[in-house]
Amino acid sequence: MSNESQTIRVGILGFGTVGQGTWKHLVENAESLKKILGVEVLPVRASVRDLTKDRKLAIDADALTDDSMSIVDDPGVDLICELMGGIEEARVLTLRAFANGKSVVTANKALICEHGEELFSEAEKAGVRYAFEASVAGGIPIIKVLRESLVANEFPLIYGILNGTSNYILTRMESEGATFDDVLADARDLGYVEADEALDLDGVDAAHKAVILAYLAHGMWISLKDITVEGIREISNEDLLAARKLGCKIKLIGVIRRNFENNHISVGVHPALVPVGEIIARTDGVYNGVSLTGTVVGTVVLTGRGAGQDPTAGSVISDIVDVVKGMKGMNSQPKLLHVTPDECTAATAKEICGCFYLRLRVDDRPGQLAQIAECLAEREVSLATVSQTPKDEDRSAQIILTTHQTNEHSIQLAIEALKQLPGVKESPVLFRMFDPNGFENQ
Ligand code: NAP
Ligand code: HSE
Repeated sequence: MSNESQTIRVGILGFGTVGQGTWKHLVENAESLKKILGVEVLPVRASVRDLTKDRKLAIDADALTDDSMSIVDDPGVDLICELMGGIEEARVLTLRAFANGKSVVTANKALICEHGEELFSEAEKAGVRYAFEASVAGGIPIIKVLRESLVANEFPLIYGILNGTSNYILTRMESEGATFDDVLADARDLGYVEADEALDLDGVDAAHKAVILAYLAHGMWISLKDITVEGIREISNEDLLAARKLGCKIKLIGVIRRNFENNHISVGVHPALVPVGEIIARTDGVYNGVSLTGTVVGTVVLTGRGAGQDPTAGSVISDIVDVVKGMKGMNSQPKLLHVTPDECTAATAKEICGCFYLRLRVDDRPGQLAQIAECLAEREVSLATVSQTPKDEDRSAQIILTTHQTNEHSIQLAIEALKQLPGVKESPVLFRMFDPNGFENQ
């Protein structure tokens, strides 16, 4: 701290959407932050990859560098915000900041998902903080609520929309009949999309966030390779309409369930048909929504902007304020976990139950539907509803099926068998039907 502890100087690694938002709001709110904290908190340096790029926010050229390590090692910087994304370089810089005695505020869920165990442990050893409110659900204060406000609870179910980009795309496809590509271009312009947009579209970004929530709620780091991760690329405008006829909306959801009888835990991210009566089904646009069912509180649902410059910067600044309070002895550092680590094991596919929606394109010929029903029945998958639309142009038909309750193991066997059936023209499209009230029976 400079000037006899009157200013906390913040170094920002990454000066893109979130980095510029954080700088801007720190400057604009400097007066009110000073009133809250009794010290000034000011951004002093930021790093980028390409110094020649135009930036929307103009700052002193001397404050920008392409050498992130020089900020981390700068004795004139008290606190680091890692807002550059990516894994390895961000990890090295974060560890170096800890070694230099500096707390780090991050929005980088990919890094936490991959190296959280190491990073939280190193931060603790160094006696500094690694704060990550902005890493899950953008502007929604979900980390604080889970770790602090709902500390009296255990969580049999946490589920919700954890990716703003995909929710924005699905919402506009459904409400305007817009094309996937057009809406994706708008989401990019609005600053919602990851530098690697496949992370958003293929469910990986939401899975990173689900893994972090699962760790906080249950103390178990789950590897991405052990969970179902599906994105939104296969969802067609027809699926969105078919779901509405079934009283549902298709949302990309993360689901974290724990069975407290055997401590088996399942985590997955996939599109699901969610009944329109659920708040999560009505959470549209860039909004995220997280439904937490706690043993004491019941169900709490939080919604808010899940991506974009301002909401995310707001979460970063909330962490900066907490870290500065800690530096000033104004509050003690909250414990990372309130649960016992490692008491859970992963649920098997047979334990993960639910109903499913299937879309198939088949030859329009006698006996086709019966063959499909038999194929499913042999794998203990029972049909609930069927609708068939002929496609005259190539004498095929589109069949939309929903199933009664079955499990992931059986439905995956059934899908593999359906692919082999003569007359099934394309790989079937499968979505889960999510019933938040039915999970207790599974
Ligand atoms: P972004 O707009 O792509 O900005 C990334 C910034 O980091 C850019 O300024 C880039 O420099 C810089 N950078 C990248 N690699 C670098 C390196 N090796 N050395 C120095 N600078 C480097 O990304 P963003 O949307 O702000 O996201 C930043 C982080 O926040 C990511 O972890 C993301 O997952 C997370 N996040 C984003 C949002 C959101 O709504 N955008 C919300 C929550 C969390 P150049 O500009 O020169 O390329
Ligand atoms: N790309 C992410 C999203 C940013 O769309 O949700 C917020 O983490």
